[in-house]
Amino acid sequence: MTTTRMTSSQETSNQNGSGRSRYHDAYGRWQSDPEWFWEEAAREIDWSKAAERIFDPAQGVYGRWFVGAECNACYNAVDRHVERGRAGQAALIYDSPVTGTIRTFTYHELRDEVATLAAVLQEMGVSKGDRVILYMPMIPEAVFAMLACARIGAVHSVVFGGFAARELATRLEDATPKLVLSASCGVEGARVVPYKPLLDEAIALSAHKPQACLIHQRPQAQAVLVKDRDHDWQAAVATAREAGRKAPCVAVAATDPLYILYTSGTTGRPKGVLRDTGGYMVALKWSMKNLYGVDPGEVYFCASDVGWVVGHSYIVYGPLLHGCTSILYEGKPVGTPDAGAFWRVIAEHKAVVLFTAPTAFRAIKKEDPNATHLQNYDLSSFRALFLAGERADPDTVQWAERILGVPVIDHWWQTESGWPIAGNPLGLGALPVKYGSPTVPMPGYDVQVLDEGGRQLPADTMGSIAIKLPLPPGCLPTLWHADERFRDAYLVTYPGYYNTSDAGFIDGDGYVYIMGRTDDIINVAGHRLSTGGMEEVLASHPAVAECAVIGVRDSLKGEVPCGFVVLKSGVGQSPAVVETELVGLVREKIGPVAAFKIAITVGRLPKTRSGKILRGTMKKIADGETWTMPATIDDPAILGEIGEALRKRGLGE
Ligand code: COA
Ligand code: AMP
Repeated sequence: MTTTRMTSSQETSNQNGSGRSRYHDAYGRWQSDPEWFWEEAAREIDWSKAAERIFDPAQGVYGRWFVGAECNACYNAVDRHVERGRAGQAALIYDSPVTGTIRTFTYHELRDEVATLAAVLQEMGVSKGDRVILYMPMIPEAVFAMLACARIGAVHSVVFGGFAARELATRLEDATPKLVLSASCGVEGARVVPYKPLLDEAIALSAHKPQACLIHQRPQAQAVLVKDRDHDWQAAVATAREAGRKAPCVAVAATDPLYILYTSGTTGRPKGVLRDTGGYMVALKWSMKNLYGVDPGEVYFCASDVGWVVGHSYIVYGPLLHGCTSILYEGKPVGTPDAGAFWRVIAEHKAVVLFTAPTAFRAIKKEDPNATHLQNYDLSSFRALFLAGERADPDTVQWAERILGVPVIDHWWQTESGWPIAGNPLGLGALPVKYGSPTVPMPGYDVQVLDEGGRQLPADTMGSIAIKLPLPPGCLPTLWHADERFRDAYLVTYPGYYNTSDAGFIDGDGYVYIMGRTDDIINVAGHRLSTGGMEEVLASHPAVAECAVIGVRDSLKGEVPCGFVVLKSGVGQSPAVVETELVGLVREKIGPVAAFKIAITVGRLPKTRSGKILRGTMKKIADGETWTMPATIDDPAILGEIGEALRKRGLGE
């Protein structure tokens, strides 16, 4: 990619900076002795067997953390708190405005639920190393299921409910689970989304068939169970409970997988990000105090979904490992019932931090620009807002700072990293905020900006962002059963580095700026999607000759996909009919989460003389940015046609 020198005059706010941050000490300690740093951090975790080596560079693709150690993630997240005085403390608060339910589970109750469900899984034949897919809405049983798998050493793989049957089928084939855990439906605002028909279709599509499914029946929809395959969740748990069956925690190697989480790659085939057990716990536990500034016993509110990495790390494992109370919120930032939804949850449960995506705040700002709903709630417990998942635009950050009067902290990470790569470490003492920057790299991460040849670029110069190997504990050691794909996707471009596929720069003070992706991933409402995957779906329509999908700027969702299609000659259908079918097709094949609503028929696609589609220039036109005619363009007139087609849809102005 090309490198550009940035102006380094970003506006700086000192609102959050104490001026006495211990960040530089901590980062320096990690730099001078990384193994000692993580050995110290690992004292916060209970191990059934200590590590023989903190880091072994000879193992795995680029080395492995806590080699020889044994532990259990469920024991660390649940049982040890019961044993050490937190039995009666709330572990999980399920707050569901869409069903009018609030339920609290103490650590004691959580252990009981998890151990009983784990016994059910064992009776169904699941044991250490087996994969279990969870296709679940945001109900407490989703958390019980993740922890129950961890308890018996099974590997969970949660599939986000907004994905369609075909996406679920791809994951079934790759993870080859013994069992699928699901529910009769999700509740999306006012809409009930039946999950079971999607699960049945996915199993029909998949070459791999799970041995059994355990289905949680929700009152909003009753699922029809398939004989000899599907089992009723509540009935199975009730039977196990009556018989007093509870599964104990099974020790696993620190390097054993805790979960697989699929994330968008550059094609329609998602990548199975593998998470190990020991390193992940160490990193999350460190982050809870040092980055988020939260103490055990406090209430942590992460408004994401367990289907995303943010939900894995900061709805489930992070807060529970730290002995916090975690809020599981089944609702939206607006409309459930109004733009005061988050304030209500914070006030009612005395949350000290909120972690969400900037898009949620854009939605609140759009609906309630003067934050009038805030007046109805007592937010005296609330200390900080954390934003991640997409670039936090300075307008939104400043608006949030103004209305909330607490630090608003942008932090940057990926499904692959499992915990923040860069952030403003509140627990170590916040650094001054520079709007547009997620602040500084966390200990463990040597973040560098490289040019096309892999040479380090000077400060304020735009390039590819890479992390010097080894990655810290918590980051992916590899992809599920795909070491070669892991190397090809992340390690080959810059030998000795992990390529983040994000572009940006680092300023003279060491602040990182993330400006966009270098691949075809787009970020829609904080959800990571592959435009390549959408192009594969569009190209499968019989009327489509050629297509290109780009992300266009959107004031609410950050970006939304926009598809350009060239129709085959002699197609009987009108372009408008094909466009409607294409919108339906992406929803059917990828899912509603793709938010694919714009398909535009054009006569030709702009290409270079060597036939490469000029997606970058099309994006600039669609975003209304200034653009220059590429020297290599085949036919300059086509860009004018693209601009005209966009203008007809109210885009590109
Ligand atoms: N199951 C089924 N469908 C789902 C779903 C789920 N779990 N999650 C989302 N969808 C559907 C939505 O209903 C919507 O359908 P529609 O096209 O019929 O309206 C579609 O997928 C797109 O969802 P989304 O992009 O989330 O848009 P939205 O209009 O429903 O909500 C926001 C917009 C900004 C309120 C919402 O995206 C939000 O709260 N974001 C918070 C950020 C977040 O959770 N980020 C995750 C990573 S931190
Ligand atoms: P995901 O794997 O879904 O968490 O998406 C990760 C991608 O989201 C990153 O590679 C970035 O492109 C983007 N992203 C996440 N957090 C931020 C942030 N704070 N600033 C800018 N981009 C971000």
